[in-house]
Amino acid sequence: DLGEYRHYMLKEIFEQPKAITATLEGRLAQHQVLSCLSGLNPMAVLAQVEEIQIIACGTSYHAGLIGRHWIETYTDIPCHVEVASEYRYRRQPKRKNLLLITISQSGETADTLAALEKVKQSQACLASLTICNVMESSLTRESDLSLMTMAGPEIGVASTKAFTTQLVALQLLLAALIQAQQGETPVSRQLVADLAQLPQLVQQVLALNPVIETLAERFVEKHHALFLGRGEQYPVALEGALKLKEISYIHAEAYPAGELKHGPLALVDSEMPIIAVAPNTALLEKLKSNLEEVRARGGELYVFACKTANLVPNEQMHVLELPPVPDLLAPIVYTIPLQLLAYHVAILKGTDVDKPRNLAKSVTVE
Ligand code: M6R
Repeated sequence: DLGEYRHYMLKEIFEQPKAITATLEGRLAQHQVLSCLSGLNPMAVLAQVEEIQIIACGTSYHAGLIGRHWIETYTDIPCHVEVASEYRYRRQPKRKNLLLITISQSGETADTLAALEKVKQSQACLASLTICNVMESSLTRESDLSLMTMAGPEIGVASTKAFTTQLVALQLLLAALIQAQQGETPVSRQLVADLAQLPQLVQQVLALNPVIETLAERFVEKHHALFLGRGEQYPVALEGALKLKEISYIHAEAYPAGELKHGPLALVDSEMPIIAVAPNTALLEKLKSNLEEVRARGGELYVFACKTANLVPNEQMHVLELPPVPDLLAPIVYTIPLQLLAYHVAILKGTDVDKPRNLAKSVTVE
């Protein structure tokens, strides 16, 4: 039921505060994460983990990239991330006490399932865990542990609420991992405190919808777009580019902003819109100098920036301000305007937003 919305994608974007609340429900106490994993002895398993491998496809892979950033920032556990279609066909060296994490909205993605089967057959992991949105799916059945995202059914082919709830699930998992290995720590407590504010922050950012709708007009005639981010915002840029190409058919690429000089800067001219995500984190100043490189080449910048980032708009740089957010929540919050941008550009271009050409919601064949 679409209710007041024109498309499932828009409905699902606006459902995110509710989907995030549902994913957190019953899982947070005042200072700690409560049990959020189903399966045999999850905390005993997490206590033994020495290495993590994340496998996923598409948007779920982008969630994995952000998860790696968090895991390696807040624990000493090395974490690797790979798309399932590559991982499944490559030799894997044995690793000690490896936790294999699959991430999937549908739980039926063929490559992700095959990669899990391969690891299980070679007994190369301590345990397998899936972050999944469908309870009765192949991935939940085949995995030792499951962490369910409670996004509810996602109909639009372009994944939105599944992605942000996957990120919430990764934070719950990170807090559980820290609790299992070190007990309650300042970081695990901070994670819990930050997560509790998230639905309300997402709600605030959704209020930017009319402004983003107007901004979208500037993209309709474009054939290419470049997305930039640094650190854990680089996968956010990747996700923004995927959304735009998937539903508006505009060719979009994402780069870590520090890579500009190593090639993509050659593409920048007044015809090339560049979208950047700029929360006020430790890398903000670095990003600002990358934006300056773009400005100096005549590129037109659209920056989603923290109010406190002090980015001064000018003829070449449009700045959309977002409220200050804790570092840990920034990737989730900054994804929202990029989803809205892709949606409105696609509407203006008249594409079939919920069912983009050539794509299926669930990729059950290789
Ligand atoms: O169901 P899954 O999360 O395993 O699906 C993975 C990808 O096929 C999916 O995320 C795809 O990239 C989306 N259409 C992106 O919006």
